[in-house]
Amino acid sequence: MTKIAEQINFNYIDSTLEELEQDAWDRLFIGATKSRDSFHTPCVATINQGDVSIRTVVLRKAIPSTKELRFHTDIRSRKWAELEQNNSISALFYDASARIQLRVKGKAILHVNNEITSEAWQKTTLSSRKCYLTAFSPSSFTESSTSGLSEDIEQENFTLLESEVGQKNFGIVSIKVESIDWLWLNHAGHRRAFFDYKNDSYQWKIP
Ligand SMILES: Cc1cc2nc3c(=O)[nH]c(=O)nc-3n(C[C@H](O)[C@H](O)[C@H](O)COP(=O)(O)O)c2cc1C
Repeated sequence: MTKIAEQINFNYIDSTLEELEQDAWDRLFIGATKSRDSFHTPCVATINQGDVSIRTVVLRKAIPSTKELRFHTDIRSRKWAELEQNNSISALFYDASARIQLRVKGKAILHVNNEITSEAWQKTTLSSRKCYLTAFSPSSFTESSTSGLSEDIEQENFTLLESEVGQKNFGIVSIKVESIDWLWLNHAGHRRAFFDYKNDSYQWKIP
């Protein structure tokens, strides 16, 4: 539980904008580190030639000091190509127990074959490396039902060394957060706040 939530037992009525902003980042930080946390698997939306495109991802890192969120993906995926065309990105988080929704907007920075990806790749497990070992690109249509992996890879009959070929497909999307729209559902009246990092302003909103 975050510091502020502990103190006020999920009651944000008397919180200041600064406390709420801090709480949002505490929650994002926990979401990135705890796999069972509600904020661990946000939905991330991109733009595909004017159409909205949305999917679930695993939040891997939240860096409050630089207002950055990161997730891992295959650089052959549709989302990667979409972000290369248009780096606008939005991430949606909802914690049902705290009744908090965060609507994050920002610009994506795509990391591939650099220090950030190498360091993260070294920490990946055999199981998560499987995602980057398909012979064909993610989203390719197939004749029959398949994971796209050989049986050996499916059964994890491969060594860490053999899995190194997957590194060329491994990318990290970093979201440079430009704003957070914070919403708290409360029976006696919801609360909403907007944290605008581009204009350095925090404001209340009608929910
Ligand atoms: C719980 C969950 C977690 C997921 N995590 C990721 C992830 O971290 N990165 C990723 O690229 N895809 C992840 N996926 C798969 C995506 O939701 C999506 O199906 C896939 O990446 C293809 O998306 P695209 O065609 O828009 O690129 C996850 C799916 C689920 C259900």
